[in-house]
Amino acid sequence: MHHIPVLCHEVIDFLKPKPKGVYIDGTVGLGGHSAAILENSGPDGRVVGIDLDVEALAIAKDRLHDFEGRYSLINGNFAEMDVLLERHSVHAVDGVLFDLGVSSLQLDTPHRGFSFNHTGPLDMRMNAGQSLDGASQTALTAMNVVNDSPMDVLTDIFKQYGEERFAKRIAGRVVQARQRGRIETTTQLAEIVKQTVPQKASKVHPATRIFQALRIHVNTELENLVSGLDVAIPLLKPGGCLCVITFHSLEDRIVKHRFQTLARTCICPPKTPICICEHNPSVEIITKRPVLPSVAETQQNPRARSAKLRAARKL
Ligand SMILES: C[S@@+](CC[C@H](N)C(=O)[O-])C[C@H]1O[C@@H](n2cnc3c(N)ncnc32)[C@H](O)[C@@H]1O
Repeated sequence: MHHIPVLCHEVIDFLKPKPKGVYIDGTVGLGGHSAAILENSGPDGRVVGIDLDVEALAIAKDRLHDFEGRYSLINGNFAEMDVLLERHSVHAVDGVLFDLGVSSLQLDTPHRGFSFNHTGPLDMRMNAGQSLDGASQTALTAMNVVNDSPMDVLTDIFKQYGEERFAKRIAGRVVQARQRGRIETTTQLAEIVKQTVPQKASKVHPATRIFQALRIHVNTELENLVSGLDVAIPLLKPGGCLCVITFHSLEDRIVKHRFQTLARTCICPPKTPICICEHNPSVEIITKRPVLPSVAETQQNPRARSAKLRAARKL
């Protein structure tokens, strides 16, 4: 399985991995970033890699075999990182990375149901495999959402998580179509969307935003991100760095605003005459603007096209 880690040099520049350092890769995926952190923190830097996806963890284990003894892999949700790390006796770390979204493994495996380019069951659960470490599996699949949600709920999901202009129209068509029988596959759904929205000369498939919306909803991705940021900061040692790579504006907005709040000296409501909040900033933002991939990187790895990296340092 070929996976090129996105913005890898930039992540390493911010994390500055060092010997004896301990780093959390909250989205270890196929292990690309973890391998780079381990390479740069020899001979004894450590990585704890977390992922919801057991299939990804098996591949990461293979990829990291040169670093045996210097990494641990945990099947779980980064939103619960504090509890997961406590179980592994890790209390303070030098860096944390979240590289959000789906991996190439998830996108390219038809039975996972993430892509309209392959016919597969409408699943989209990141933790669909048999769980390790007692992590619980999400019961909700995209198939349940598409077939069992009332039209207004579907409209909201498409609008809120897909920022889809034709959300209501598409939800209406889905409800109509499912009266003839359950919508079970990725390509069935993609075809319904394609036939509903006006055909424009656009580079992206008309179902792109609908698939993004369903995936975010099924995996509660935005809620996980909010919690993940909140649990990561207290785990960082002073000077430790948090790097977050996002792939769409909903995620980037959450990271930008959370970083701004954490970096502010005062969080009183705007018209408060004298500061009463006694808020202490906990981070310094190191990326005033998000770091984007170079033209060369996007040419080599089209998946990097929409990536944005933000980083903050613990005070
Ligand atoms: C873009 S991939 C990461 C790729 C990885 N950086 C690499 O170089 O191979 C994102 C990964 O994050 C995982 N993931 C997404 N949300 C998660 C969460 N809340 N907790 C743990 N893993 C998550 C997905 O299962 C997926 O494997």
